[in-house]
Amino acid sequence: MSSATPLLPLNEPARVDDAIERAAVLIRSGGLVAFPTETVYGLGANALDGAAVQRIFTAKGRPAHDPIIVHVAEVEQLHNVARVDEPLRATVDALTMRFWPGALTLVLPKRDAIPSVVTAGGPTVAVRAPRHPIAQALLRAAERPIAAPSANRFSHTSPTTAQHVLADLNGRIDLILDGGRTPIGVESTVLDLSQFDLNQGAPTILRPGGVTAAMIEACLGVAPRQRVEHASEHEAPAEALPGPGMIERHYAPRTTLHLYTGADEAVHRALREAAEVLIERGERPALLLAREDLTPLADLAARLPHVDIGSLLQPEAIAHNLFYALRALDASNATRLLARDVPAAGIGDAVRDRLRRASSVVHEV
Ligand code: TXA
Ligand code: MG
Repeated sequence: MSSATPLLPLNEPARVDDAIERAAVLIRSGGLVAFPTETVYGLGANALDGAAVQRIFTAKGRPAHDPIIVHVAEVEQLHNVARVDEPLRATVDALTMRFWPGALTLVLPKRDAIPSVVTAGGPTVAVRAPRHPIAQALLRAAERPIAAPSANRFSHTSPTTAQHVLADLNGRIDLILDGGRTPIGVESTVLDLSQFDLNQGAPTILRPGGVTAAMIEACLGVAPRQRVEHASEHEAPAEALPGPGMIERHYAPRTTLHLYTGADEAVHRALREAAEVLIERGERPALLLAREDLTPLADLAARLPHVDIGSLLQPEAIAHNLFYALRALDASNATRLLARDVPAAGIGDAVRDRLRRASSVVHEV
């Protein structure tokens, strides 16, 4: 496909039913539709149609070994795509009752109806029921489970507006449903229940997200395990890697991102020094700051493009703004982005995870 992708605004109630119907027809006939969820925009295809799902990989430039989340409208449909046998049943019931619809994805043994392209050939399937009203309406109208990764080009920053989707995928997909900015702003938590027996009843968080480890522990009475990072990931010492270009980056802006982590004063000092050095070299740095940085770094903020992602006391606001801010800074003509780290409390865990994966260098100061 090469013609421009239409973007249907859903802010006028009278037009919503028509837009959802048009999108549902496209999904049923093997097309690709981007739609808002409460986390980020998804790029959807009929999860039961292997050829349609294959088109998602092509449109995104996504490697075939990366499996895709299947979205369902409600918990009853979970059982059409995944097997929930003993001893998983009580845990899955508790999690879905507490968190669905919402930002929690469960990895479970897959049913045969799910084509292997969805699960990258693996025996498990990731499933979630999104809460966003447009996602809910689309799932119900399509009457199909919908496979949907985030609607960005592979490894780029996830989209939190329809315009972000258009910027990445125009001409490569059939339709975009515009529901405005997504409320949560980072992706769902991916929780693996497929190793449940081996882990003595504890699920494993594969990706931190909208539902925090503390919320899962409060629901289950057992702390989830945290995924162990692969040695190949970029927290490994830089000198052990063939070169910065080889570092695996995800959620990444096009511009090189440096992340500064440490006590506030040390981070302020390091950001100021880095900015001065870059300016001297003729580069154009831009800053990702918290509300609390604006006064101590007022001199820098007056001279350089910057985004305030919100108060460190409000991790939900920071999560909401993170990807939006990274895309805005990327569009600012900067040659390098300098970002401050955020506290790990609550959804801050997910923000830290995304900042680390988006950055080329993490400076501990
Ligand atoms: O919030 C979200 O989860 C968004 C919205 C659109 O629902 N979706 C999303 O999808 O972030 P994606 O494809 O960008 O990220 C899905 C993550 C990937 O890291 C993938 O490897 C993992 O989930 N995943 C999918 N299926 C899996 C499986 N069967 N086992 C383990 N990990 C899986
Ligand atoms: Mg993604």
